[in-house]
Amino acid sequence: MYCSPFKVGNKIENTESGSKLDPALVRAQFPIFNNNPDLIYFDNASTSQKPASVIEVIDRYHTKQCANAGRGAYSWSTQLDKAISESREKVAAFIGARAEDTAFTSGATDSLNTVALAWGLTNLEDGDEIMLCPRDHKSAVLPWYNLKDLLARQGKTITIQTFDIHEVGDYDLKSIKAKLSPRTRLLAMAHIHHVFGLDMEVPEIRQIVGDRVLISLDASQSIGHIPVDVSKLDVDFLSFSGHKVFATTGSGVLWVNPRVKEKLHAVKLGGKSEASIKERGELIFEHKSTAELLEAGTQNIPAILSLGQAVQFVESVGLATIQSHISNLTVYLYSKLRELPGIIFAPGMGICRCEAGFGIISFRFEQISNLDLSFVLDAENIFVRSGDHCTYARDQSEEYLRVSMHLYNSAEEVDQFIAVLEEAAGL
Ligand SMILES: Cc1ncc(COP(=O)(O)O)c(C=O)c1O
Repeated sequence: MYCSPFKVGNKIENTESGSKLDPALVRAQFPIFNNNPDLIYFDNASTSQKPASVIEVIDRYHTKQCANAGRGAYSWSTQLDKAISESREKVAAFIGARAEDTAFTSGATDSLNTVALAWGLTNLEDGDEIMLCPRDHKSAVLPWYNLKDLLARQGKTITIQTFDIHEVGDYDLKSIKAKLSPRTRLLAMAHIHHVFGLDMEVPEIRQIVGDRVLISLDASQSIGHIPVDVSKLDVDFLSFSGHKVFATTGSGVLWVNPRVKEKLHAVKLGGKSEASIKERGELIFEHKSTAELLEAGTQNIPAILSLGQAVQFVESVGLATIQSHISNLTVYLYSKLRELPGIIFAPGMGICRCEAGFGIISFRFEQISNLDLSFVLDAENIFVRSGDHCTYARDQSEEYLRVSMHLYNSAEEVDQFIAVLEEAAGL
């Protein structure tokens, strides 16, 4: 556990970016920084920049070997089919999973909607309950309300029980305990929160809900930042987008725990689907794996290949190195931000004052609006996110400016950012 209320008040000793990772060497592998040397990209929770090795894979598909994968018997088609299998093996190994349980999707939103439809539509009964936090990303929240609506049309009423964020920034475990009932079937949660930037405590929540309740984990902000290992996480579904971990847009993953595989129903079928129609119109599924059940039609081949390459890129730098670099940088940013008059921190690092971070700190100022500040920063080539961050902010006081950093960001960039903030906020 990286953050707990017990750590409130701890002194931040480590204010240097003291990891072994050299951001300048890393940046050299990202063409975007060669083309925009002054860019300070602090919006990595939205999407990551792409290394040359990933861009090359996408380019190669379009310029040197473009075919549909596994449809024809000719060499390019079979080679691309093999390349997709290799990408699946790599991505599965990266999250401690078996390839057969790892389905490619178009992104986290697709994965999270698939959980609700492929599992929820056929397994939920009248009176069942789902638990979620309305301050999570809408992609993890809305699919369950959509499912509730779809089930209502079939005459089934399910209840969505909501739990809140603790003032420190992780989930309010008391409200989870209070809302848990014998009818709770699934709890949806984030691994690292996209606004508050804390590890949201999977083990503690598993302990509270027990084995009976399924957990759908949104790993969009943890993938590529900390180990995401399904063999240790004790969850039932895991979703993330490829573009947040250096792959291109249009790729994502839905991992399904083998214990729930038999409970899934396909939500889309098409070419390559392992299903046939019997004489009386009856549909017979012949799939062997979760991937075969959940994938249909021509996939986003270059995006899938880019995801395999992206995973290889992360491994070449080393996840532990990335994690420690990001953590040091977050702690450093906090140590600078907390000196600024008028700053109001969102839940997360600014409140819990943890000794480690995951790249994300959200805040606002009393004396200048988020939007105005983001324009000032934009004029200095500093990109941060403002607004509601795709959550249901209760009012404008819950809208923050979010800085989200990754392996190519540096302490020098933090210093430049702070200097612009000081000037903009009239400090
Ligand atoms: C926590 C979280 N979940 C889900 C998503 C949705 O990802 P995508 O838009 O790539 O499907 C995001 C994207 O910002 C996110 O941060």
